[in-house]
Amino acid sequence: MSTEPEQPWWSRAVFYQLYPRSFADSDGDGVGDLDGVTARLGHLRALGVDALWLNPVMVSPMADHGYDVADPRDVDPLFGGMAALDRLIDTAHRAGIKVTMDLVPNHTSAQHPWFRAALAGGPGCPARLRYLFRDGVGVGGALPPNNWVSVFGGPAWTRVTEPDGSPGQWYLHLFDAQQPDLNWEHPEVPADLERTLRFWLDRGVDGFRIDVAHGMSKPPGLPDMGDPGLPDMGDPELPMLALGKHDPRFNHDGVHAIHRGIRSVLDDYPDAVTVGEIWVFDNADFAKYLRPDELYLGFNFRLVRADFDAAEIRTAIENSLAAAELADSPPTWTLSNHDVDREVSRYGGGATGLARARAMALVMLALPGTVFVYNGEELGLPNVDLPVEVRQDPVWERSGHTERGRDGCRVPLPWCGDAVPYGFSATAATWLPMPGDWGPLTVAAQTGDPASTLTLFGRAIALRRGRAQLERTVRWLPTTPEVVAFRCADGWVCALNAGAVPVPLPGGDVLLASGPLQDGQLPPDTAVWLSADAVGDSTRQ
Ligand code: NOJ
Repeated sequence: MSTEPEQPWWSRAVFYQLYPRSFADSDGDGVGDLDGVTARLGHLRALGVDALWLNPVMVSPMADHGYDVADPRDVDPLFGGMAALDRLIDTAHRAGIKVTMDLVPNHTSAQHPWFRAALAGGPGCPARLRYLFRDGVGVGGALPPNNWVSVFGGPAWTRVTEPDGSPGQWYLHLFDAQQPDLNWEHPEVPADLERTLRFWLDRGVDGFRIDVAHGMSKPPGLPDMGDPGLPDMGDPELPMLALGKHDPRFNHDGVHAIHRGIRSVLDDYPDAVTVGEIWVFDNADFAKYLRPDELYLGFNFRLVRADFDAAEIRTAIENSLAAAELADSPPTWTLSNHDVDREVSRYGGGATGLARARAMALVMLALPGTVFVYNGEELGLPNVDLPVEVRQDPVWERSGHTERGRDGCRVPLPWCGDAVPYGFSATAATWLPMPGDWGPLTVAAQTGDPASTLTLFGRAIALRRGRAQLERTVRWLPTTPEVVAFRCADGWVCALNAGAVPVPLPGGDVLLASGPLQDGQLPPDTAVWLSADAVGDSTRQ
């Protein structure tokens, strides 16, 4: 047993990320809602999760499905309004499940009253100061003020038509044109966020996932991207939201004052948590967000980025633990979310992709720290290749149809039955079409099946819950290069075979395996948990 002092609830929690549009629809409009979540809470109780993270449910025109907030202190009627959230919080709390919400401080919706006032007021009006309006450059100001690109594709600037009908100023939007970036230098911006934080915390919300937590602050003068005078942020692959070479759009130092402001509010609510979306891959830079007066947790996307390759997985784990150590904060683990392809498909799709996803779930759930499971992951759902005509993600349009966008990981969840919409809704006209072959993947079909992915997740989460608070370290066991094997501080071992041939199992009693084992062998694409007792320092090879 650990002698550590009692840690906060979130330091080893399993969070369930719930995309409200896609979880369960209670009113038959084809879009999931909060009463749908409340009605299906039994699933989450059975799964054993500690907390929910709800993707945004605030009032929104839904240009980016809620990440474009028009009223940050009300729930959109599409999701059932405020009363539905109150019902969910109450029911979840009675079931011992915490409820955290998404918070979007970097930008608002273009329909937010502040932005409408900024457009109506014309150049120089005080309302424009809450956003980042600038004159264009070149003849007649016809070119954008700098070369920044939107994360969703195309320029990060849109030119407005002024109230007198003339072509006018430009405003900055790091995402869609419907998501104007706020000017965090304006005193009303932090003051309004404080009101929002207290509003939800006073209503019983247990904390926030903070969108684009490495955004918000912009460098003075808004220097061009690629300016060699700017630091190299060290991620040449430029995935969504991550920093590239000389990228001034994110991770500006001024962001830390904003996080200190958020923390000073959270300090009045000692049980509440913040987790930042931080696409920063330098460990020291990442750790800065987790200083004692900033965020409690930082999303760590290293496992999301790792291929199904032992060296990549080991490096991802090592770096995540190193960043957590630097920050003196629990490491966090996630394999997927609403922005990336589901891991079954990332790892190759079909039976192989599923086997690998199950194996990686055991790796993730074995590690010390906080875990985020994305809805549908517990069912082994694959990404869906959606036809062009049904795609809704603004990424598809803004990228000029070169990026298919994120709809494929947001398809509604299948609950029961053999045909669409599998109990998701009373209507088959779901907001994204569901595949016709998901009958075997429904919650009902997987419940009680000892071999199902749902059963695997339930068992793993239950076993994980029974473990002592873990230190932030793992000890690597000697293995062949295709195997990832580590022992945690309580002696438990997790081993994953990412190679092409079976390998001998490490010693110890098998607690759980992601797939069938063969005569003391760990087959390819399989992971196993072994108990403390009989485990030696080395694998049997
Ligand atoms: C990150 C969110 O995860 C993503 O879904 C959203 O589109 C952008 N931030 C903009 O808010």
